[in-house]
Amino acid sequence: MGTNQFWLIKNYVIYLLKSKSRYHIHSPFVFDLVENVFKNKTITGDLKKIDAFKKSMAKSKTIIETIDFGAGAHQKVYTTSFQKVGNIVKNRSQRNAQAHLLHRLARNFKPENVLEFGTAAGFSTAYIKSAIPESRMVSMEGCTNLANVARQTLKQLHIQNVEIRIGNFDVLLPLILKEFDTLDFVFFDGNHREKPTLDYFNQCVEHANENSLFIFDDIHWSQGMDKAWKAIKNDKRVNLTIDLFWLGLVFFRKGAPKQDFIIRY
Ligand SMILES: C[S@@+](CC[C@H](N)C(=O)[O-])C[C@H]1O[C@@H](n2cnc3c(N)ncnc32)[C@H](O)[C@@H]1O
Repeated sequence: MGTNQFWLIKNYVIYLLKSKSRYHIHSPFVFDLVENVFKNKTITGDLKKIDAFKKSMAKSKTIIETIDFGAGAHQKVYTTSFQKVGNIVKNRSQRNAQAHLLHRLARNFKPENVLEFGTAAGFSTAYIKSAIPESRMVSMEGCTNLANVARQTLKQLHIQNVEIRIGNFDVLLPLILKEFDTLDFVFFDGNHREKPTLDYFNQCVEHANENSLFIFDDIHWSQGMDKAWKAIKNDKRVNLTIDLFWLGLVFFRKGAPKQDFIIRY
């Protein structure tokens, strides 16, 4: 899944120049988030366990056939390939720093209804769900063989009650949304292209409440994702956005002024 490295580096340099430390944040909500969630990098037992299992899975030489409906399929409807599970874990899973942040965000906001786009080998699912064992979590994945790997990952980690739904997001999403009155936490980590990202956002936002948190992966990965992030930031229904470069956080808090922060994570 190639991206324009020059584009990414240029964007990263801009991010470094624009990003603020917590001393320049004039929003008590965001300041607390930075202090208590972004900067609190304690590695709990849960995180250690998942990190260690991920490290061992990254060595797996088992080969599976994968089907890709997302940005990896380029202009085609889907592509298939044979890949080592270890390479999928290394290349597709969130890096530990981001995955730990997902865990801490879930622990902090305690969402009851969680939806994830892109299960892959199940690691971001594990990091999120381990923080909120009582919550409902649905995770969508287009590749059946990968969904089976994810089921094994969750079983090995004794993480229960995750509903993995197999199919193309385009087909699954409208059906799944019928099951949710409200969505408290949505992690968008699949099909990193402008139009699908905005389509998925527009469908999910109908189920947002004032405490919802939507998290977008790879918001500067490509020109298309950059444009999608800008459109989401400018959307009238959104009132607070936080750009952490690899992840973009979107809040819908009522009564607060519209604000956008670029924060060094
Ligand atoms: C980056 S990976 C997800 C990684 C996972 N969230 C983690 O951090 O462990 C994206 C996944 O989304 C799936 N995907 C992409 N586009 C899709 C689509 N349109 N429908 C269903 N699955 C899709 C891919 O098969 C891939 O496994």
